[in-house]
This record gives sequence, C-alpha cells and structure tokens, in this order.
Amino acid sequence: MKIENNISLKKFNTFGVDVNASKFLTISSIEELEEILIKEKNVFTLGGGSNLLLTQDINKLVLLIAIKGIEIIKETEDHVYLKSYAGENWHEFVLWCIEHDYGGLENLSLIPGNVGTSPIQNIGAYGVEIKDCFHSLETIEIETFKKHTFNKKECEFGYRNSIFKNKLKGKHIITSVVFKLSRNNHKLNFSYGAITSELEKNDIKKPTIKDISDAVIVIRNRKLPDPKEIGNSGSFFKNPIISKEHFEKLQKKYPEIPYYTISNSEIKVPAGWLIEHAGFKGKRYGDTGTHEKQALVLVNYGNAKGKDIFKLAKKIQKTIKESYDIILDIEVNVI
Ligand code: EPU
Repeated sequence: MKIENNISLKKFNTFGVDVNASKFLTISSIEELEEILIKEKNVFTLGGGSNLLLTQDINKLVLLIAIKGIEIIKETEDHVYLKSYAGENWHEFVLWCIEHDYGGLENLSLIPGNVGTSPIQNIGAYGVEIKDCFHSLETIEIETFKKHTFNKKECEFGYRNSIFKNKLKGKHIITSVVFKLSRNNHKLNFSYGAITSELEKNDIKKPTIKDISDAVIVIRNRKLPDPKEIGNSGSFFKNPIISKEHFEKLQKKYPEIPYYTISNSEIKVPAGWLIEHAGFKGKRYGDTGTHEKQALVLVNYGNAKGKDIFKLAKKIQKTIKESYDIILDIEVNVI
C-alpha cells in the first residue's frame, strides 16, 4: 500500500473535471481497507466517479475502491445469489451476468460506474432499479472499521435514493453487493416504449436477456453521451414529483407535457422536458452546457471547472422554479 501525493482526479470522474487530491491510495482488498481505516479516518471514497461533481481540490486521503471479484454464494433451482466486490465495473458485471444467463440486470446495461456505488443511488433505467434484484451488501464503517451487512429493507431504497445518501452519508464504505438473479424463466421488462420499438425493428418476437441488453445499449448510445468522449454524469437532476393540482395547471398551459402517475395525488414529470422547454437544450456556456440530445445531462466539453458546471446547474434550477414553480433536486453528488 503506497500513498501517492498530488494526484489529478481528472481520469477518476466521468465529468473529467481536473481537481487535485493531496493524498491518494488504491485499495485492492478488504484487508487493505481495514488497515488504512485504523490509521486514517479523514477519507474520501471514490468508486467509478460517475455520479460526482468535483468543485474543489480534495484535501483528504482519497481511497479508490478497486476490490475485484465475482462469486456465486448460493444456487437454487430458479435463482443464483451472486456477490460482486465493489471495484467491479458495473457494465462489465452486467455483461458477465448475461453471458452466464443470469437474468434481472439487463435493463441496467451501459450505466457508468462501479458495482459498489450502484446501491447508493439505487441506479435505475428502463423500468428497473437495482433494488429489484438486490439481496444484501457489506460495508466497513469508517469510524469503527467494523464490518456490517445490510439487507434490502435496511438500505431504505427509494427513487435514486438510499440510506447511504441520507442518514449514513459518508459513514460506510461498501465493499461488496449480493444480487439475487434468475437462472431460468427470466422476467423480462420491456414495458418501456423505446425497448419495444427497438425489438420490433429487429423483428425479435421472443427476446432473451441478451436481446434486451443489446436494445438498451443501442438506446443509451443514441441519447446519452459517452463519458469517454464528452464528460458527463448522466442525469444531473432527479425527475421531480409534483402534486396532481400543480400538474393539472401545467398541463393546461403545456398540453404535450409527458408525465408518469405515481399515486392518486402525485405526478412525476421529466426534468429533461422542463429543461428543454425552458430553452437550455444543447446550449453551450464556455466549456459546459446541456447535451444536445438529452437536456437533463450536463456536459464538460473539455476544460470546464466543477464550479462552472455547478453554476449552470444553479441557473437551470432558478429558471425552472420561475417558469414552472418546480424545484429540481440535484441527483449527482456535488463536492
Ligand atoms: N425529454 C425531453 N427533452 C429532453 C430529454 C427528455 O423532452 O431533452 C422527454 C422525453 O421525450 C421523454 C421524457 O422526457 O418523454 C423522458 O425522457 P427519457 O426517456 O430520456 O428519460 P429521463 O426521465 O430523462 C430517466 C433516468 C435515466 C434513465 C432513463 C431511462 C432519472 C433522473 N433519469 O431519464 O437515468 O436512463 O430514465 O429509464 O430518473 C441517470 O440517472 O443518470 C440516467 C441516465
């Protein structure tokens, strides 16, 4: 274990923002993590850096969690319980599951980031969230350097939310996650219109999990910028949930506004639509802006600073509040 000094974090966050880490350590095993936490508690945990906006240098010890491995914990006739260590790349893990014909995560193909950070914001796409296949996770508590196990209920999952974004924020480091996946009779979810049309286009009538994954990859590549080409962190804001009365007022003014009914009294509206119709889509401000195909994605065209991106986010929030009386919550972790 060797602590490095003054490392640029540019290649460790998908926004590609260049800030300095005064101390940096790559962690390859749980033992190494325990060992360092005994000595040092002023740490900043880094996974895939895909849900992170860095607006300042980090003057803590940055721990890059690179613990690898996938293990079968248990198999029943219908299910497999798979443990993946935190440092596995999320998309590679999903592809590994598909190759072994383990079903459940195929709709979550091509999401950037690592397995260990996926439960923090309960990653989701195309009608599936990881909570749907989640079994449990293991952590090390920073303060006590003790191991803990959390089951699904204890993680308090919600829409892009969990206990690790709230009560336990910054208190635990996730070391592994166990998923319960199907071994046969996969329950496919292709309710999302874009998936259905992609399958129809390819004349696929009885899709496999691989077909769903392939369709999701095509759809994501069409709409979302590849962080290797244009720095970004996926959806920057959450889709807001508003009251039915509020929505009905908006709908009178904008009859074409898309929506999803959450309950009798609550409606979710796509933040991307609001941002586009407030005039921000594809607009560039210096080296930052919103993506030309998905206004909910803020981008770094090259040398944007975290502060520039954050300033644009504030400007969007202000405009959306003034135009629609809606508060947009930031989904990305801003440091
Ligand atoms: N829309 C616009 N203009 C835009 C973007 C979207 O009018 O610039 C409209 C679309 O036409 C559509 C609606 O908004 O009617 C929803 O758009 P989309 O299907 O692209 O999904 P989203 O609600 O913007 C959410 C997730 C994405 C996830 C997709 C697909 C959140 C915050 N985002 O986006 O997740 O991939 O659904 O399931 O819930 C992420 O979290 O990083 C992410 C990419």
